[in-house]
Amino acid sequence: MSKGLIGRIVAIVAVVLLLVVVAVLGKMWWDSRLPDTYNVMSYGTHDYGGGPEPFDHAGHDAGAGTSVADLHGPSRGTPDARFELTARSADIHLSDGRVVHALTFNGTSPGPELRVRQGDLVEVVLHNADIDEGVTIHWHGIDVPNAEDGVAGVTQNAVLPGESYAYRFRAEQLGTFWYHTHQVSSKEVKRGRFGVVVIEPREQQPGVDTALAVHTFDGIPTLNADAGSGRRVPAGTPVRVRLVNTDSFEQTFTISGTPYRVLAIDGTDLHGPGDIENVALPIAAGGRIDVGYVQPSNGVRVAVEGTDTAIGFDPSGGPAPVEVPPTSDFDPLTYGTPAPTPFDARSTFDRRFEMTITRKPGFFDGSPGLQWAINGGIYPDVPVFVVEDGDLVEVTITNDSGGIHPMHLHGHHVLVLSRDGQPSTGSPWWSDTLNVQPGESYVVAFRADNPGIWMDHCHNLTHASQGLTMHIAYAGVSTPYLVGDEPGNAPE
Ligand code: C2O
Ligand code: CU
Repeated sequence: MSKGLIGRIVAIVAVVLLLVVVAVLGKMWWDSRLPDTYNVMSYGTHDYGGGPEPFDHAGHDAGAGTSVADLHGPSRGTPDARFELTARSADIHLSDGRVVHALTFNGTSPGPELRVRQGDLVEVVLHNADIDEGVTIHWHGIDVPNAEDGVAGVTQNAVLPGESYAYRFRAEQLGTFWYHTHQVSSKEVKRGRFGVVVIEPREQQPGVDTALAVHTFDGIPTLNADAGSGRRVPAGTPVRVRLVNTDSFEQTFTISGTPYRVLAIDGTDLHGPGDIENVALPIAAGGRIDVGYVQPSNGVRVAVEGTDTAIGFDPSGGPAPVEVPPTSDFDPLTYGTPAPTPFDARSTFDRRFEMTITRKPGFFDGSPGLQWAINGGIYPDVPVFVVEDGDLVEVTITNDSGGIHPMHLHGHHVLVLSRDGQPSTGSPWWSDTLNVQPGESYVVAFRADNPGIWMDHCHNLTHASQGLTMHIAYAGVSTPYLVGDEPGNAPE
């Protein structure tokens, strides 16, 4: 063959190869675009966790079985606590003098603190004044019936301007929770669309009980937006501070000037909490930690580590004292003392799931880049964990992605069994928002006792909007709601 001919063949082969690569990438791009309207039960791979495939499983047939719309809280009865929350845009004034154009409930961010008592029938009526993209309320950490869960396109439609929606549930769990919109949540929560919920014991507790929501506006962390810097607390007073991380990234608190105890994590009291001092408290995005101490005669500083964002508790009402640099980080795995749990690592599980988070090149909704993947698939090619009512379920969450992922399961609390093979030996540690650090692997367990279709996602809401989201679905439950541009529902 002549040199010219060889050259021409090489050129043709190269062009054909290039066309094949372009065609493959083009198909990947095309296939990755999310449809204008879809049912969340119609995507992904249904994973049965090694258990039987339920015979009544609605599967990809979205119309079958029990509808989430039938899984409401108590429809009858006069509420013991009733609130009206109106979503609207408003300027809010921060303690440092800044004015932020925020997205609010009732004109403030955080929205009103909802304090109710355990056992109360709670009714919250949501109104949308002027939010064009719509709004919902999700009760983060409160294991409400599915239709009260506030996820646009899964448990309801987004509430549009001029519309209202009533949530009703029984406040059964004691503790610190929060609420936020679950419509375009990555953008809306960031701009302030959230508030705190506290479920108190029925009998009045002595002392000071205060909730502090940390939230970063324009790069600067705030506590309750304008909580001020000092509170007068007489020496000898028991103090409970409920720390709520409403940011999309981990926040670390310091408590200076007193030994303290960690009383609760994610709305669940710890057993046998002991005094600790100079220990920093990292809190997962979306997570809550309650601390308690008895007010000494000196001031106590509760601060976002290394910042001026702090509150002083002081018998004379003076400003926050200086921060004492912490010498270690709080670790729930070994804190407190053991107590009986309804199941443990030795239990027989009906289903065991793996949730492995990685990062890989690919397309997400038509955009190329390094994407989050769950069990190797990029959203919507992610698993749906299918369970049956009553199942005891184990999930191994492994983070091989290089980023921190605060994994939040709706509608359930999980019991942490181990981390990196090291069993949990302190107090029973129940979580709804588990901070999974790069390289870590947690084994957690829960009882499937709240039928519905439940989101299970990263509470770095930016990550969730980039596809780090999936569902746990009860066999036989379907949803009539749709996600996408057409129905106007965008939970992330
Ligand atoms: Cu606090 Cu699905 O969210
Ligand atoms: Cu994440």
